Amino acid sequence: MHLINFKGFSGQQLVEIIDKAIEVKHNPEKYRKALDGKSLAMIFQKTSTRTRVSFEVAMTQLGGHALYIDWRTTNFTIADIYDETQYLSRNVDCIMARLLRNVDLQVMAKASKVPVINGCDEKYHPSQAIADLMTMKERKGKLKGLKLVYIGVHNNVCNSLIEGCIKTGVKIVTVTPIFNEPSRDDELLEEARKTGLYETTLDVKQALKDADFVYTDTWVDMEFFSDPKYAAEKEKRIKIMMPYQVNRELLEGYNALIMHDMPIHRGYEISADVIESPNSIIYEQSENRLYAAKAILLKLLEKF
Ligand code: CP
Repeated sequence: MHLINFKGFSGQQLVEIIDKAIEVKHNPEKYRKALDGKSLAMIFQKTSTRTRVSFEVAMTQLGGHALYIDWRTTNFTIADIYDETQYLSRNVDCIMARLLRNVDLQVMAKASKVPVINGCDEKYHPSQAIADLMTMKERKGKLKGLKLVYIGVHNNVCNSLIEGCIKTGVKIVTVTPIFNEPSRDDELLEEARKTGLYETTLDVKQALKDADFVYTDTWVDMEFFSDPKYAAEKEKRIKIMMPYQVNRELLEGYNALIMHDMPIHRGYEISADVIESPNSIIYEQSENRLYAAKAILLKLLEKF
């Protein structure tokens, strides 16, 4: 079983992973040897703080071992992804890959003899969504019937949130004046619409009504953030998105909890006062990446 997105997962399976993450958080000792002798290869084409740290620490705390592999230092750069993965999956028990392109991850999954976890590509970020849903369940004691409003650019994080929410009974309303075309998955959105749990609108005030959570994310993907070639597009996006910044004025009269998957760009998608407000659960959400990583590893390595 791979975790590329949530398409192969039932709502029940997602809830089991989320509940396991909560259980592991409260009973770390019980799982100290759960992955004894197992190795996880973590291969990165892009930068990361949370995904790298959470999976590496998860393996250590579960009794296993993680290898950090910078794509640029490997022979993946000069050979076929299929062949290199055939080899890699014969020496490790699991692969977590943060690749630029989902098509390459699909090749990796096809070649691999062991589970492959999507560590965030241009289309999906499933391990983030597991931590998000876990945080929501911890806060509210349930998922079914909750409402989350995502305000920002429609991107990979947004796709995985939509998938995760509709499968676990959470209503999700997106306010996304810009759609990141590389992340487009029309099939996912069509399926989401059919459930009645997904809506999209540009009326942010209407969307915020009865919201339990407000979620935002970067307006520019990490691989382009400091790229001079992307500067004009970045400026254009800032102009379009600034009226949708999650700030005190936008949230006036609403009491939703505030979420962000990080890294944060203060003063862009979210203001500093909101990040530090009592309603912000951003840092506990980021902490939960560790427990989500543990639960994902335990599930894919068939430990529950
Ligand atoms: N949210 C997230 O995936 O963080 P990193 O990009 O730092 O891994």
